[in-house]
Amino acid sequence: MRYQALPASLYKRNRAKFMAQMKPKSIAIFNSNDIYPVSADSTLPFAQHRDIFYLTGVDQEESILLLAPDAVNPEDREILFLRETNDHIKVWEGEKLTKEKARELTGIQNVQWLPNFESKLKELAFQNEHIYINTNEHYRAATEVETREDRFIKKAKQMFPGHKFERSNPILQRLRSVKEPEEIQQIQRACDITEAGFRRILDKVRPGMKEYELEAEFAHEFLRRGSRGFAYTPIIASGPNANVLHYIQNDAEIKDGDLILIDVGAEYGNWSSDMTRCVPANGKFTERQKEVYNAVLRVKDAAAKMLKPGVIWKDYQEKVGRIMEKELIKLGLLTEEDIKNEDPAWPAYKKYFMHGTSHHMGLDTHDYGLLYEPMKAGMVFTVEPGIYIPEEGIGIRIEDDYVIQEEGEPINLMKNIPITVEEIEELMNKNK
Ligand code: GLY
Ligand code: MN
Ligand code: MN
Repeated sequence: MRYQALPASLYKRNRAKFMAQMKPKSIAIFNSNDIYPVSADSTLPFAQHRDIFYLTGVDQEESILLLAPDAVNPEDREILFLRETNDHIKVWEGEKLTKEKARELTGIQNVQWLPNFESKLKELAFQNEHIYINTNEHYRAATEVETREDRFIKKAKQMFPGHKFERSNPILQRLRSVKEPEEIQQIQRACDITEAGFRRILDKVRPGMKEYELEAEFAHEFLRRGSRGFAYTPIIASGPNANVLHYIQNDAEIKDGDLILIDVGAEYGNWSSDMTRCVPANGKFTERQKEVYNAVLRVKDAAAKMLKPGVIWKDYQEKVGRIMEKELIKLGLLTEEDIKNEDPAWPAYKKYFMHGTSHHMGLDTHDYGLLYEPMKAGMVFTVEPGIYIPEEGIGIRIEDDYVIQEEGEPINLMKNIPITVEEIEELMNKNK
């Protein structure tokens, strides 16, 4: 395996936490993702659905988890169904999970081959009254593709029209948003790999390079450290491109005098990291770039301190907006007058800082978590304020990943990644 897997005890605990939230007399089913086709016989690389991964650690296509805490036969309380491996598959695709390996990996004792799934599902459904299905209710989800999970839901509703269907998603949103120590450890590994990537590029940046050359350096460093690559599509945006929030072309030539916004994070064992730094193409920030950069950095540090148990995301966002407003006035971008006359539905600061400050981060980069519920210790949030000034060709965002603590300030998982103007300039110029 390319990455160091977390122990089965974590996945056992995750399943126990999920089952504790299920109604009596119920079962729950979790499917893997499909392998998505391109055309002809080519496919995209497999990416496991994060929910079945969270509950089992299984990183293999077609796997299904069936939970039935009230099963008549105690051995049926947790069943993992796997694609049966054989000598032909071994030759063409390599090792797949054996039952023995799957038991070790997941802590689930009852491992069966997929052809048994339907009869077992019927047996357990008829012993119970509720069926938990796994719909995607993420606040940013917008998919047109019918997933394997979606197809299963349709089928289950046809097979069991008399059962009561329940939603797994709200349970998972709450559970997955509070991370266990092992999960934090894996996120830290992802952050450390991101750090190595950032350090690698610092003395390589030169005017005249293409943005994708930096992308290539990150990919190289990530892969050689056991990551499968980027946790999300990387943004390497030089000069005015930094003002396009979702710029992913990364194909422009880096010009002397440009600032380059780098929003890049490594994945590790399916956990994400999410970092943004800005570096000057020629190794030296201009006075104005430095001024704006330091304003963003102050907002990031002030915002991070506000991440505490009990805080509601919307209140936090509004407070960060007020801090940003003061910085924008100091930078000469807003006046007191602008603030006095602002539309409360679209405060003046949003002209330069138009996105959210923080999102949950974990198995998904924009992870699960119900933003209208109070923050809790163990939640991981990004803190990523930005100031975008298209008329000056400057776009600056700085992003770190933090773990909320029971007491005191949150822990910055990216505290070792160079961030100050002085550190960045020094590292960029050390071999010049
Ligand atoms: N890289 C995506 C984000 O920062 O939210
Ligand atoms: Mn982010
Ligand atoms: Mn980011």
